Amino acid sequence: MSPIKYTVLITGANRGLGLEFVKQYALDGYQVIACTRKINKKDELHQLQENFKAISIHKLNVANFSSIDLFAKSFKKSIDILINNAGIYPDSSIDHIDYKIWLEAFKINTLAAFKMTKALLPHLKKGQLKKIASLTSKMGSIDDNSGGGEYLYRSSKTALNMVMKSLSIDLKPYDLSVITLHPGWVRTDMGGPNGLIDADESVTGMKRQIDKLSIKTSGQFIAYDGKKIPW
Ligand SMILES: NC(=O)c1ccc[n+]([C@@H]2O[C@H](COP(=O)([O-])OP(=O)(O)OC[C@H]3O[C@@H](n4cnc5c(N)ncnc54)[C@H](OP(=O)(O)O)[C@@H]3O)[C@@H](O)[C@H]2O)c1
Repeated sequence: MSPIKYTVLITGANRGLGLEFVKQYALDGYQVIACTRKINKKDELHQLQENFKAISIHKLNVANFSSIDLFAKSFKKSIDILINNAGIYPDSSIDHIDYKIWLEAFKINTLAAFKMTKALLPHLKKGQLKKIASLTSKMGSIDDNSGGGEYLYRSSKTALNMVMKSLSIDLKPYDLSVITLHPGWVRTDMGGPNGLIDADESVTGMKRQIDKLSIKTSGQFIAYDGKKIPW
């Protein structure tokens, strides 16, 4: 195994795209800080950790902002890449809206990505790569919305896009670059069995976009395959 190159922190790391990010970055020789809201020693993340000692697992519910602050305070190393992956997709339609869950969707899909970024800024500033990637969705594109509905998910991802765009501007002076990534329609618990691609293909593509990210391209909204998505 080659010496540790860089450190990547991933939220929602226990399943789906988060778990695949953990796997691929571990294979690349990164130190992986895998954050999960529930610790289950029998899950796939822990099985993976048995093969890759560079994976460390941390309990972190991104909806709990004081625990984000505590984590940031206790974590003493620099971070090269932050991946805001954790997300929820509550179903909604004009006839079926739960306002409490709408606020929860905003908290997890939008506010938590900002809070994680803000809390970990000192660590990211000390990192070598200085990159922040957030998993959004094409469903957050206003231009692309031809289907309507899905108010909770769509609006929380549209807001995430705007938050990340502003961060890309505000963080430029620190040489920190920001990208919002659409993973494609992926066969995970969220994407369901009819998704068009598997997690392996999606994450391989997203990692390529994160590799290519620079301060010059900061602020983009792109898909896993590099295609620009209209806002
Ligand atoms: N799959 C797709 O087709 C698709 C398309 C567009 C965008 N995305 C985006 O890609 C990201 C990952 O999606 P996925 O398909 O991998 O979804 P998934 O299979 O449903 O996994 C979601 C992950 O987020 C975690 N999570 C949810 N709330 C959390 C919280 N409060 N604190 C910490 N972790 C939390 C879950 O943890 P638990 O196991 O504890 O619930 C789980 O690890 C999401 O942001 C999603 O919106 C996915």
